Amino acid sequence: MAEESTRRPGLKPVDRRTFLRYGLIGATSAGLGGFAVSALGFMWPRLGDGLFGEVAVGDAAELAATIQSERAPQRLEGGVAIITWDPSMSGAMDAYGEEHQAILDDDLGLMAVNAGSCPHLGCGVPWCQSSQWFECPCHGSRYNRLGEWQFGPAPRGLDRWASFIDDDGQLVVDFGQELTGPARTANVLEQSPEGPHCVDA
Ligand code: FES
Repeated sequence: MAEESTRRPGLKPVDRRTFLRYGLIGATSAGLGGFAVSALGFMWPRLGDGLFGEVAVGDAAELAATIQSERAPQRLEGGVAIITWDPSMSGAMDAYGEEHQAILDDDLGLMAVNAGSCPHLGCGVPWCQSSQWFECPCHGSRYNRLGEWQFGPAPRGLDRWASFIDDDGQLVVDFGQELTGPARTANVLEQSPEGPHCVDA
């Protein structure tokens, strides 16, 4: 089970309407193709003034359950993508455990990834439901489900923010701690695409 050290005092959650609005944008863009997706890359919402410091973004257990049942990240304002990860995977805690302390169980954690700004030239990076990867429509960079670089001109994996679970069970993302994405050589997940890509290479 999660250790008590991962819990911190409660914070005010993000407005649910805002959460769902950007979740809808994410779901819509994942289903589009070609030029329309490319255009969305430039239009993807960037981190707004409303997200700074430590922000409670929702019930951690509910978020994890939704992500797993929908097999898709939950998208928040500014292209923030909440994903699940498995801390029991080989090398996972060494790579991510220090900053991503939102751990619900031995094999279930949450992580906040910056899908609003591709590390190449800053396009938004929609989720591709069929491949189960993040795929950038601008120049074809692809990232696995953990945002680790897999293909294309991007110099690294998707950037991310530190996070933890507070005493009320809320996932708290620390927007004051943006973390540079993992190096190209990082591939903890070793996830092959699970279906057709949404973006041509
Ligand atoms: S901006 Fe994403 S690949 Fe160029």
